[in-house]
Amino acid sequence: DGINVIEVTEDISLSGHLCSQESLNIATNFQFQDSDILLVTFPKSGTIWVQHILSLIFNKDDIQNQSTIPTFVKIPWLEHKQVFKSVMENEKSRPRIMTTHLQAKFLIPNLKNSKVRVVYVARNPKDVLVSFYHFHKFANFMPDFSSFDDFFDQFLEGKVHYGSWFNHIKGWLGVRHELNFFVITYEDLSQEPYQAIQSLAKFLGQHLEPEYLKSILYHSTFSFMSQNDQLNFSTISCEIYDHSKGKFFRKGMTGNWKEYFSQDQDVRFNNVYQAEMRELTFKFPWS
Ligand code: PPS
Repeated sequence: DGINVIEVTEDISLSGHLCSQESLNIATNFQFQDSDILLVTFPKSGTIWVQHILSLIFNKDDIQNQSTIPTFVKIPWLEHKQVFKSVMENEKSRPRIMTTHLQAKFLIPNLKNSKVRVVYVARNPKDVLVSFYHFHKFANFMPDFSSFDDFFDQFLEGKVHYGSWFNHIKGWLGVRHELNFFVITYEDLSQEPYQAIQSLAKFLGQHLEPEYLKSILYHSTFSFMSQNDQLNFSTISCEIYDHSKGKFFRKGMTGNWKEYFSQDQDVRFNNVYQAEMRELTFKFPWS
C-alpha cells in the first residue's frame, strides 16, 4: 500500500516518511552539549504540548511569536530527516532543545556522563493507545489497522512504531538516576498545569514571574493550541494528514480510553501492565 516502514531492530520499526537509516544514524551518533535539553516521549504522550511550553519558557520576550512557528520546526525530532538540521545549524540558540521518541538504548551511550537536561513526558498508556490508534487513521504515512481491536493487540505486544510503550518507559526511567532527568505527566499538566509548568521551569533553571506563568498557561491550553493554524497541523498537506479522517488535536483529555476499551481489554491491559511495571518504583497519577 505504499507505506514506508524502516525496521531498525527486531522489536522496533519507524516510519520511513519521517525517518531514514541515515537520520537514525545521525541521532544515535549525536554529540550532545551540556547545555542541551532533550524532550523524550513515547508518541502521543503530549509531545507537541510540552514542545510548545518549552518554547514559551525560553522566549519570555517573544511570547506572541511562539504561536506563529510550528513546534516541530523549533524543537525538532533528533531522529527525523529534514527539519532536525535547522536547529543544529542555528548555533546561536542556547540552549538547543530537541525531541525524541527513541527508546533509551539508542541514546544512552552519548547521554551518560553529560549534563543534558532530559525531560520525560509520560501519559496513561491507555490514553496513549487510543490517541495513537486515531493518529494511524489521520496520518497517511502510518500503517493501517483493520480495527481498534487489532490495534489494541499490536500495541500491547509492542508491535507499533517505536516499539513497546512498556520498554520505552522502563528503559528511560531505569536510567533516570544516571542522567539529569525530570518526569512530567500529561495528567499533571491537565489537572495541575500551574504547578506542573512551574516545576518544569524550576528544573530548567528558569524563574517565571506569576504574570508570565499565567501567559504561558493561556497560550498552552488545548483550546488555544488547537485553534491556532500554525500549531494545529491543519495547514499540512492532505497527502500527509487526511484532515477528513481526524485532527491532531483530537480530544486532549484524560480517561478517553474508557470509551474504547471493552471490559475484557481492560483486564488484559491491566494484567500486562502489572507484569511489565512490577519493578519500576515510580508513582504515576494513573496507577
Ligand atoms: S506526537 O505525534 O507523538 O507528537 O503526538 P503528541 O503531541 O505526543 O500527542 C498528541 C496528543 O496530545 C494532545 N494534546 C493536548 N492535550 C491537552 N492540552 C494540550 N494543550 C494539548 N496539545 C496536544 C492531543 O490532543 C493528542 O491527544 P488525543 O488524546 O488524541 O486528543
